[in-house]
Amino acid sequence: MQDILEAIEGGASGEDIAALPIPGSYRAAHVLRAEQEMWAGIPSEDKDPRRSLHIGEVPTPELAPDEVYLAVMASSINFNTVWTSIFEPLSTFAFLDRLGRESVWGARHAQDFHVVGSDASGVVLQVGSAVRNWKPGDRVVVHCNFVDDQDPSAHDDSMLAANQRIWGFESNFGGLADLSIVKANQIMPKPSHLTWEESAVNGLCASTSYRMLVGRHAARMKQGDNVFVWGATGGIGAYATQLVLNGGGTPIGVVSKEQRVKLLQAMGCENVVDRAAEGYKFWKDEHTQDEGEWRRLGKKVRSLVGEDPDIVFEHPGRQTMGASVFIAKRGGTVVTCAATSGFMIEYDNRHLWMKLKRIISSHFANYQEAWEMNRLIDRGAIQPVMSAVYPLDRVGEAARAVHRNEAEGKLGVLCLAPEAGLGVTDPEKRAQVGEDRITLFQRHARGEL
Ligand SMILES: NC(=O)c1ccc[n+]([C@@H]2O[C@H](COP(=O)([O-])OP(=O)(O)OC[C@H]3O[C@@H](n4cnc5c(N)ncnc54)[C@H](OP(=O)(O)O)[C@@H]3O)[C@@H](O)[C@H]2O)c1
Repeated sequence: MQDILEAIEGGASGEDIAALPIPGSYRAAHVLRAEQEMWAGIPSEDKDPRRSLHIGEVPTPELAPDEVYLAVMASSINFNTVWTSIFEPLSTFAFLDRLGRESVWGARHAQDFHVVGSDASGVVLQVGSAVRNWKPGDRVVVHCNFVDDQDPSAHDDSMLAANQRIWGFESNFGGLADLSIVKANQIMPKPSHLTWEESAVNGLCASTSYRMLVGRHAARMKQGDNVFVWGATGGIGAYATQLVLNGGGTPIGVVSKEQRVKLLQAMGCENVVDRAAEGYKFWKDEHTQDEGEWRRLGKKVRSLVGEDPDIVFEHPGRQTMGASVFIAKRGGTVVTCAATSGFMIEYDNRHLWMKLKRIISSHFANYQEAWEMNRLIDRGAIQPVMSAVYPLDRVGEAARAVHRNEAEGKLGVLCLAPEAGLGVTDPEKRAQVGEDRITLFQRHARGEL
């Protein structure tokens, strides 16, 4: 991999890069099938990804005709890496085995190791025989929608494809590694004004928020909408907040720490709810929700924006869904893509049907939506929300911070990139967009706001 890194850093031509041999093994963050029972009897919050995420050499898979070998310069932590590392809600080896049964190429994925990671920025090294739009030397980012384009169900909205998967979660050979295989239809141009790590953190979370709020498949936010955003400085929430502001809506952002209130205000979100300071407790006990607390939150929102939210951007799940359904406006929409605090959801259906509200599900994004979001990032209209960068060797530590809700925005991970700050090819554009805007989350994490 050292030769590959030197070629990339030395600005080698595409031809020279294509001529470099692909090593027989590479460094990757992975979990092991043999350890999938390791957390038996241990509560979720005590499961420590530092113990289950290993860094070591894995064999390089053969390249399928529709794939490229990617030298991964940087990647990021997503919550799905946390799920894989704590083997919840189930071991991801079940996904790999299912993929393994589908085809000859799918069989490569069913291994006793699972290389995780659903984001990447990097350089195309070699392309399979069926790849037309990308060539060795291209600087790219990767989105994680992994679909079989020979499946008819993938040709209206690819998120509806019968065999749609998330790369690096439901497939092997993910982005938290020095090398990866990705399908040609996962690739997008790297924003030229961003570093490797700033480019790598956006794909999964930003595209998810785009589909939830902007794309035609989910909530379809319009100008003037009030949008209530849970976890508004978190991975998906921080992109949602930016999309609402850009789209002429009014975000009402929820966070749980005083520092996050400041960060949200610095992003331009004026209406902030500090759920910890205000002590919302939507569940009286494990089985009983407290409608009085839903009402208190609803009143708070009205006190901030004078109206109920047109859209509730929902992902915490069991802890908050009852409140989310309650506070949405008559005819309003709750759009959900997750259930961090538990997926068995309860809400009072009377508040839904009597007020003609809708709950819409959303999951990642199709290629076109991911491309549109990447275009906004490339234009400097959406900023990366990276608060810190870890070397690949410390990926377990980074995943632990996300698991414990200690990190703001996104955590970048350096793979082949030897240090942070590399990879900008258009410094003028960077200056135009504004260093301060691009690095807001990093400056906040360093206590500079
Ligand atoms: N379906 C998809 O395609 C998709 C894509 C991306 C993510 N996801 C899922 O979406 C969820 C969030 O992902 P993320 O990357 O944004 O995670 P994240 O970076 O950890 O941010 C989540 C935020 O939610 C808030 N939160 C956590 N638990 C909460 C609770 N019980 N009640 C209220 N707020 C709570 C926290 O903010 P405060 O503590 O500051 O309020 C936290 O910052 C995860 O479950 C992830 O797996 C799904």
